[in-house]
Amino acid sequence: MAVIAGNWKMHHGPEEVRGFFEKLDIFDVPASSELIIFPPAVSITTAVQAPDRDPRVMIGVQNVHWEALGAFTGETSSLMAAEAGATFALIGHSERRHVFGETDEETARKAAAIVAAGLTPVLCVGETLDERRAGAVDAVILRQLDAALDHLSKGSGRFLLAYEPVWAIGTGETATPADASAAHATLRGRLEEVLGVSKAARVPILYGGSVKPENAAELLAAPDVDGVLVGGASLKPESFAAIAAASG
Ligand code: 13P
Repeated sequence: MAVIAGNWKMHHGPEEVRGFFEKLDIFDVPASSELIIFPPAVSITTAVQAPDRDPRVMIGVQNVHWEALGAFTGETSSLMAAEAGATFALIGHSERRHVFGETDEETARKAAAIVAAGLTPVLCVGETLDERRAGAVDAVILRQLDAALDHLSKGSGRFLLAYEPVWAIGTGETATPADASAAHATLRGRLEEVLGVSKAARVPILYGGSVKPENAAELLAAPDVDGVLVGGASLKPESFAAIAAASG
């Protein structure tokens, strides 16, 4: 089973969302693959209600605040996203961490809120180029995982991880399948230490960073890569479908 997720970032308002689902053809996608789209918050309801959306394509929210409600202008809560029909939530995406300065502590608080609201969290981790050059990949991704893991593993507890090296996001530069596998094995090892081997095996670990139809099959075939989190190439229905079809 593979998870193919599209993070639309700040693209596709309601009108474009309807057009996307009108054109998305997932006939060639293996029945065992799980499909998730993360539209901008203002487009979640439209995505959920789009008459042409195949119910196999689930909808998630890209970011939430840790409080359920209150005086937080511009923010979206997990409960509200759930009410709008989202069933997944990204946490700690590299743009949240590096563009908006989100800390590990804030990420952990968001993880708790997402779990409490009954959404399935997808925690993103990943190192910058400087951190990679300094040999700190494992230290960085384990620190990011450790900060939220306690919350993620609480409750009924399904959650996913996404390894997204910051230097590979939106750059056309993709980690090699071996780089991805190495980082995923590090994450899996920590999950095994904390949750035990059988629970750890059930946590899908996705790779993200310049995934496209041309490289999806080899990344998805790499050991310990259970799916992909796709940015730019998920915006067009044809390329999202082509990546998802490579998950067979
Ligand atoms: P790109 O696929 O555009 O590199 O973005 C990756 C990403 O950040 C997905 O969350």
